[in-house]
Amino acid sequence: MWYLCVFYHRLLDYRKPEVQALAELFGAFGDDDKSRSLEWRLPKEYHPDSPFHFVNLPSEDIARNIANRSILVKGMHEIWGEGSCYEEMEEAIRGYPEDRKLPYLTLESTFKINIDSFGKAISSEDQKEWIKRLSFIPFKGPVNLQNPEHKFWFLETDNYGSNNGLPPIVQKRIFFGREVGAADRKLLPTYQLKSRTYIGPTAMDAEMAFLMANQGLAAPGKLIYDPFVGTGSILVAAAHFGAMTMGADIDIRVVRDGRGPDCNVWSNFRQYGLSEPISLIRADNNLPSWRAGLNEVFDAIICDPPYGVRAGGRKSGGRKLLKGVVDPYTVPEEKRADHIPSTAPYSLAECVHDLLDLAGRMLVMGGRLVFFYPMLRDEFCDTDFPEHPCFRLIAACEQILSYRYSRVLLTMVKVEPYTTEIADSAKKMHQDFRENHMKWLEEGNLHAAVFAPIDHRSDVNGDSKIISKDTKAKYRGKYV
Ligand SMILES: C[S@@+](CC[C@H](N)C(=O)[O-])C[C@H]1O[C@@H](n2cnc3c(N)ncnc32)[C@H](O)[C@@H]1O
Repeated sequence: MWYLCVFYHRLLDYRKPEVQALAELFGAFGDDDKSRSLEWRLPKEYHPDSPFHFVNLPSEDIARNIANRSILVKGMHEIWGEGSCYEEMEEAIRGYPEDRKLPYLTLESTFKINIDSFGKAISSEDQKEWIKRLSFIPFKGPVNLQNPEHKFWFLETDNYGSNNGLPPIVQKRIFFGREVGAADRKLLPTYQLKSRTYIGPTAMDAEMAFLMANQGLAAPGKLIYDPFVGTGSILVAAAHFGAMTMGADIDIRVVRDGRGPDCNVWSNFRQYGLSEPISLIRADNNLPSWRAGLNEVFDAIICDPPYGVRAGGRKSGGRKLLKGVVDPYTVPEEKRADHIPSTAPYSLAECVHDLLDLAGRMLVMGGRLVFFYPMLRDEFCDTDFPEHPCFRLIAACEQILSYRYSRVLLTMVKVEPYTTEIADSAKKMHQDFRENHMKWLEEGNLHAAVFAPIDHRSDVNGDSKIISKDTKAKYRGKYV
């Protein structure tokens, strides 16, 4: 059955992958073909960036579960009629099968009609007028504005002429339908960072953390690991959805101490009444601390690696130690309790290689690796993401952070078991990737590119180029 999926008009790239992930979580594809893609279609004269999309789902229960769990679905609706003018919509509603309409129009069931528009405001007089015009629908039950059993929506988008924030090809369209489910965005004020006890400069904001947890299919019975746990924001979101969590960070002060007994990663979980992580460890992503033979433990690895714009990665061993200039340091007995080992810079290229290796080994088959990857906006191109023979990339969602810099949330599924041969070929692929594409990923380059003065920037070869402000598109969508 086709449902109209109305999205919030934000994080455009994240919307369909979220629905796709939740469709898998709620069993839309059965047991056999988990990798199947959902079928989507656009309303007439619409555009991929617009908030209205039709999606084909196997049942109303699945549609409801997806919508209620999502962060970006404003509403999932069974559409009774649509058109480019009121008359066309009315005709469609009249023609919609009675057996689909009548169960929701009974004497006993309460209802409410909501009016919503995209890109324009509808005055309260006009809203009343629209509701009157819908009186040809034989509603029999009482209206209940607070807690109706059935919610109906009259939805309208105007065309570009009235400056509605969508590309010019979008034309006026109106829809009437019954709401099947909608996101619970009240979650976001509850979990917002400004009221969280323990946060740091790179704490993940609540909306993004929930989207990441959805991409990782967080659910009861799953074990989710964040190897760069920081203040634990991503794991908080995963725990909200009932998953067991585990985290690691190279910084012992973060995982052990925080800012005191009531202001640390553990207290962040207590604050929301969530199950605490099963463990938080001090571990370096560059030196895996897992015992030999321990494989396929996690259902998902979800993380935000340190990519060097606000805080760069560190790995164990001081610079001189790594260069072999000094011998390994033996910590004297009296300093063991609070010794903080020295660290050296850890480039993103190396960090991502280690992450893919860890995920290849430690994820169950079908498990998901969800992580952020930085992109300079000029370079954005789907083929430039790191690869690993154990994984298939299933989603790449760009979030534009500034005029020149984005981060892309990559979701990968483990499709091949980890073997020594695979680990070797991954190392080779990584070397090629690093040499061919990602010079700017190396230490310092990303930071320099992001913070260079607006008009002069270096391309990947280090040559300076001038960026003209006139080249900035009026409409910032990918498909125009
Ligand atoms: C971008 S922050 C992650 C923030 C986290 N998502 C949060 O919500 O607070 C990156 C984290 O990676 C940690 N880190 C840096 N190098 C590391 C390494 N080699 N191994 C493990 N953690 C590392 C840093 O200490 C930092 O806490």
